[in-house]
Amino acid sequence: MSTLYAVLFYVATIIMIVGTAMKVLKYARTPAPLKIPVSPAPRTKRGVWFRMFKEVAFFQSLFKSNKWIWIFAVLFHAGMLLVLLRHFRYFIQPVWWWVELIQPIGVYASFAMLLGLGGLLIRRIVVPRIRYISNPSDYLMLILFLGIAITGMMMKFVMGTDILMVKQFFLGLLRFQILELPMQPGVLIHLALVLILMIIFPISKLLHAPGVFFAPSRTQVDNAREFRHLSAWASQLPPLPEGIPEEGDS
Ligand code: HEM
Repeated sequence: MSTLYAVLFYVATIIMIVGTAMKVLKYARTPAPLKIPVSPAPRTKRGVWFRMFKEVAFFQSLFKSNKWIWIFAVLFHAGMLLVLLRHFRYFIQPVWWWVELIQPIGVYASFAMLLGLGGLLIRRIVVPRIRYISNPSDYLMLILFLGIAITGMMMKFVMGTDILMVKQFFLGLLRFQILELPMQPGVLIHLALVLILMIIFPISKLLHAPGVFFAPSRTQVDNAREFRHLSAWASQLPPLPEGIPEEGDS
């Protein structure tokens, strides 16, 4: 069983990294023929950096559109971030000081993650407008995360697990050695769900995480009045009349 998990973790890691890199490359190469920044939009590159920072760190546009979803989304994402940072202790030895520091906060973060996921799932079920546009994958992703969070919390608060053995197993994988995993249902289910998450990541809606950095509606500078916007493939168009600058000329 430990060998099976080890092989699956290697395969899943390759699928996740290569698959996501291929998707990101595709996004980066997709031309954006039109100027479509959502206004009010920044008029300089520095302004776009600031806009993206607010979007990624505080989910600004979601805050403007729906406060309830914003609260649940922040609880889920911020909770998950802290939980994942707390998990660093399974992969490094000696454990970095700041990973030690966040251990207690990470435990509370799992409750925030659970609450956020619960809110997002209930919204999909009870709001008719959202239920109408929800696909099976929308529910399944939430259920997958709920499964990971619940099995993790069961290990932490109810069943307990041999954390040292789990850590030995993952440190072993990093050195290309296969060691024993504890044969406890909590660990095995938690890790099986994590494997599913890693494998489907590059073909799932979770690609919104890298994708936000390639959304022209957020990343374009609002300078259509100063410069003519021309995507690379359109450069064979007739030259501009004298005096009209191309974007990037200045
Ligand atoms: C290979 C990757 C992972 C390993 C080895 C792992 C291992 C573990 C272990 C051993 C625990 C129990 C901690 C304890 O008893 O103190 C745990 C808890 C937990 N895990 Fe994971 N996990 C992994 C990935 C993930 C991922 C990707 C998520 C979320 C998306 C996650 C969410 C949680 C949560 C919410 C808890 C309960 C709170 C906590 O103890 O931090 N885990 N995990």
